[in-house]
Parts: sequence; structure tokens; C-alpha cells
Amino acid sequence: MIIKNIFKIILFQQLFMFIFKKKSSKLINNFDKITLDKGSLRGNIRVSGDKSISQRALIIGLASIGETVIEGILDSEDVFYTLKAVEALGAKINIKKSQKLLTINGVGIGNLVSPKKPIYMGNSGTGARLLIGLVAGSNATVTFYGDDSLSNRPMDRIIDPLKKMGASFILSGEKKLPITVIGARVKGITMPIKYKTPVASAQIKSAIIFAGLTARGITCIEEPYKSRNYTEKMLKKCGVVITSKINKKFINTIKIKGKDYLKNCNFLIPGDPSSAAFIVVAALIMKGSKVKITNILNDNMRLKVFKILQKMGGKIKINKISSDKCEIIAEYSYLKNIHLKKNDSTSLIDEFPILSIAAACGKGKMVMRGLGELRFKESDRFAAISQGLKKCGVDVKTYGDDIEILGAKKITGDSIIHSNKDHRVAMSFNVLNLVVEKPIKVIGNDAIISSFPNFFCTLKSLKHE
Ligand code: S3P
Repeated sequence: MIIKNIFKIILFQQLFMFIFKKKSSKLINNFDKITLDKGSLRGNIRVSGDKSISQRALIIGLASIGETVIEGILDSEDVFYTLKAVEALGAKINIKKSQKLLTINGVGIGNLVSPKKPIYMGNSGTGARLLIGLVAGSNATVTFYGDDSLSNRPMDRIIDPLKKMGASFILSGEKKLPITVIGARVKGITMPIKYKTPVASAQIKSAIIFAGLTARGITCIEEPYKSRNYTEKMLKKCGVVITSKINKKFINTIKIKGKDYLKNCNFLIPGDPSSAAFIVVAALIMKGSKVKITNILNDNMRLKVFKILQKMGGKIKINKISSDKCEIIAEYSYLKNIHLKKNDSTSLIDEFPILSIAAACGKGKMVMRGLGELRFKESDRFAAISQGLKKCGVDVKTYGDDIEILGAKKITGDSIIHSNKDHRVAMSFNVLNLVVEKPIKVIGNDAIISSFPNFFCTLKSLKHE
């Protein structure tokens, strides 16, 4: 009882800060002991800053000359390791705790410092891949390594194009971390390339774009579907000539012209829609809930999950506040499952785990196609969804890269789910835990700190009735 109360006090304080405060590993280790109260969720909240934009703001700050001011940066472990890496590569960072502002003085494109020690990227695929790209077009030599999950993720998808651009790599066997990158400008120049990537991935595309900043000429990338495009939008703001065009077959072609310098600009980071999705689904499946999230990034692609949930009958209102911010109101709803198309999958890449939880609670059969890329995320999310839900008593079938979920009124639960160092898997099953008949024990909740350290405290801060 006393322990439970201590947790309550701690959780309400939003203590898990890496950038603006010190991280408390003791509290994070106790994440597995937290149980969320059942009952309706009601109230207004904000979610923390968007992870993709936060990491890009730091990297672009490093590549600019002059001061970049970042407001609303996500204070999470992935962003923290990207920040530490950006410092190791030469940026001077000043953190103004009181105003939650961060300023960076960068070193300019292709003028990075070669750090004496290898750089640790933790769990962050975005941080690692984007920085490998930036180093590939530079005059620096850098070794990157990561945790067990990141060390198992494929890097061939960026190594192959970056080699064509003139970078060299020292690998320890497979094309996975640890990797030493020798920038193209250590001995020569960055070559502009024309590259067709077999998978639509913002990380692959961005790695090539960052390397292409120093190329003499135009680098052209073709992706099979449009992936999230913040690198393009943010670099454009800094004066980079970058265009993109989608054809009738959904192929997205991006062209970027090499540049001598980036105009420094400031970034204000809105709330992360992917984090908001966990709270929204929790509200949709918990009787009597009504939650308003007031600061979500307004971006069609990232709002796709909410549009899909609306199609499923979810009572969700999306109110535009400004060109890049919206608020979302979500209420408990009777969900009906639907069939998704393969070309929906790129926009839902981070949301399939939580969408699957909504589907498990919906009526009828949910069909989700083209989920092959989920096998290469922080964990094998394809297996995490299908096997995890089955363990909880949900009827799930898989066919190649497709998953079918038969929703049920009552879900047994009564199982142990390992996050396998995957924040989105951990959060998804914690949300499912709110409605199961017998508790699910989620092991490895500490992974949540990579994207949404305040996940538990945000849910606890909503009024339970
Ligand atoms: C991200 C891209 C996505 C996503 C990840 C963040 C990014 O991966 O899963 O969480 O910031 O570039 P893809 O490389 O599959 O697009």
C-alpha cells in the first residue's frame, strides 16, 4: 500500500527527464511494478514533443553554423543519446532548464569533429541512421554502437547507398552496429547518386539526404511510397533546395541539391502523434472515457492512425489549431474492425502495435496488410503483435506480411509479455491491460523511456472514475 502511494506521488511529478533534469534509473527500474488503475479516463492533457522532429532539430543544429534554438524538444532517452552524439561531433549545446529551451551552435555541413571515443546511440534507430548519413558526407571518421536491440537492426539499407556516395565503412561482420564510418570527404568528395530504395523508410531516405548535403550536384532518391518527410521540410526551412514528387503508382521521388552551408533556423516542436495514439486508444476502449490532447503535430501522414480509428467508429474529433498543431478529443466508442490496404502501412508504421490493441477490442475481423517492415523495428513487432495478442487469448492469424485480428468483447489477458526493449510494444500491452479479465504482466517497461517517459504519469494524471 505504502509502495503504491509512493509510486503515485512520484508518477504525478513527471520525473523522468534526461535533458532538463537528471534521469533516475531507480525509478525507471521500477516501471515494471506499476499497475494502471482501471476505470474511465477523463481530462485534458498534453503529450511530449515529437521524437522524429526533435532528433532532426538536433542534427540540423549540428550541421548549421550559428545558433539554433529548439523549444519543446522531447525529453526522452533516444533524443538524449542523439544530443550526446551531436555534442561529440562538435556542437556546443546550452540547456536552459527554466524555459525548457535548448540552443545549439553547430559546426556546419561536412565539418564535423572526429570523436576520440565511439558514440553510443542507445536504442535509437533514427539517431543512428541519420547521423551515419551526415558523417558519410563529412570529413570525419566516427564509430557508432548501440544497445542489443539497435545492434540487431539492419544497416545494409543505408550502408549500400552511402558507399556509392563515397563513404567507407569498417564493419565487424554483418552490416550492423558497431560500425565505423569514414566520411566521403576524408579522402575525396561526396558523390551525388540516383538511388531507388526498396523500402519506404524515412530513416533510409534521411540518411541519404544528410549525406547529399555535401554532394556537388543533385542526389535523387526514389521510395516506393511516401514516408514521413520532416528532413525535407526542415532542411527546406534552412535554405536547402529539395523537392519531392509522387507519381500515380505512389512512387515518391526526392531531389536534393548539395550546399555549402545551412541557414540556421529555430524549431518549435509539437506533441508526438504516435505517443498520443496510446492515450487515444486507451480512451476509446475504456468505458466512460473522454480525453482531450491539446498539442498534437498537425500532419496528415502522422494523423492517419486517428483517421483509421474514426473509420472504425471511434468518436474522435481533430481540431486544427494552426498549420502545424491540432487538438484531438477521443471518447469511449463501439469499435468495428475494417480492412486496411498495403499502401496504408507506411503512414501507420509506428502505430500498428496500438492499432492492433484497438482491433482486439473491436467487432469483427481487422485485416492489416503489408506489415513486413515491422520485423525490423526496435523488436520484431510483427511477432510481438501476433504472438502477444494470441497469448492474451485473442484470435490472430498471419499470412505472409499480413495480420488478421478477430476482435472480442472479452479478452482474457492472464499472460506475460516481454517488451524485448521495444517501447511501443510495452505501451500497447499496458493499454490492453486496462480492459482484460485477468492482468497481463508486461516485463521491460523501462523501454518506454526511449520515446514517452511520461506515459504512465500521463495516464495516471487523467481522472479515473
Ligand atoms: C522514423 C522513421 C520511421 C519510424 C521511426 C521514426 C524517423 O521508420 O518507425 O520511429 O524519425 O525517421 P522508417 O525508417 O521505417 O520510416
